[in-house]
Amino acid sequence: MSMRPDVLIVGPLYQPTLDALDREFTTHKLWLAPDRKALLAACAGRIRGVATSGFHGIDAALIDALPKLEIISSFGVGYDAVDVDAAKRRKVIVTNTPDVLNDAVADLTIGLIIAAARRIPQGDRFVRDGKWTRQALPLAQHVTGKRLGIIGLGRIGHAIAARATGFKLKISYHSRRRVPDSPFTYYERLIDLAANSDFLVAILPGGKETYHIVNEQVMRALGPKGILVNVARGSVVDEAALVKCLHEGALGGAALDVFEEEPKVPEALLTMDNVVLQPHVGSATHETRTAMGQLTVDNLTAHFAGKPPLTPVT
Ligand code: NAP
Ligand code: 8YV
Repeated sequence: MSMRPDVLIVGPLYQPTLDALDREFTTHKLWLAPDRKALLAACAGRIRGVATSGFHGIDAALIDALPKLEIISSFGVGYDAVDVDAAKRRKVIVTNTPDVLNDAVADLTIGLIIAAARRIPQGDRFVRDGKWTRQALPLAQHVTGKRLGIIGLGRIGHAIAARATGFKLKISYHSRRRVPDSPFTYYERLIDLAANSDFLVAILPGGKETYHIVNEQVMRALGPKGILVNVARGSVVDEAALVKCLHEGALGGAALDVFEEEPKVPEALLTMDNVVLQPHVGSATHETRTAMGQLTVDNLTAHFAGKPPLTPVT
């Protein structure tokens, strides 16, 4: 009989991470099972670890179906899809992958600000469609020196701010608490941050507490020239209000990496010329996904070697 701990993998992960999990543990792949109930009936009593991701998460029902569960290791920093309260009730450890993805997400965020303001995708389409020979592309918005509002000046928020200083952006932020010794302007109220920003970037956790924190009033405060960039979670932006504000011209533009019902994107956004869309790729580089995968596996191996996990969420 194998002495390797049994680990349930909830959904597909980066292939090298799956390979590493297969090498280290006796794995059970839930999404590949033709009959999920039958797979669980066969192995639930042996499962000591779960590997999942910010996308697949794990709910209370599945946690409670695993009586020997000790640890949930989630690939990704945001863990709003993991029922942490249910895990706590069962004294199950939850880990995530913070810090290793800060640079990749911050790089994409700066890319999205510039893409939306300078209309890079529109220019690309303009050339491909052969329009350049007949007309000129309308002028775009300047980036350098504008006002950047960051919702959530945490690990990634700081990495975005560090890059933004290179563009001489005037940086302000909103969070529940002022960041001690921060050189950036703090707004206690999100609506005030929005009213004082040209670009408003959401990079805070998803979940109940931040649900639709970027509402219609916030978007109207950002205004007809303002650009909303969401690299956090789809749930933080009221998507119906976003469509309405963009449609009415109450909001200037948006650059979105995340959506309320991924991978579904509202039809209306697909037809809007002032919107830049990405398929949730903030951390999607080989280097970053490798580091995230390593940390996902290392948290499990540390725990099963009797050591504290490297990056527990609480
Ligand atoms: P972090 O270091 O924990 O920072 C989170 C920030 O959000 C903190 O400044 C926190 O400050 C603020 N915040 C939390 N709750 C808030 C609330 N209710 N209202 C206002 N501000 C609040 O997290 P991180 O590592 O930077 O990651 C942030 C999030 O980015 C993740 O949770 C994830 O959802 C998202 N993300 C997306 C991608 C992608 O691919 N697009 C990749 C990675 C991460 P206070 O505690 O003082 O409020
Ligand atoms: C991941 C993310 O793509 O880390 C996060 O919170 O949103 C992304 O880096 C995601 O968690 C994997 O599904």
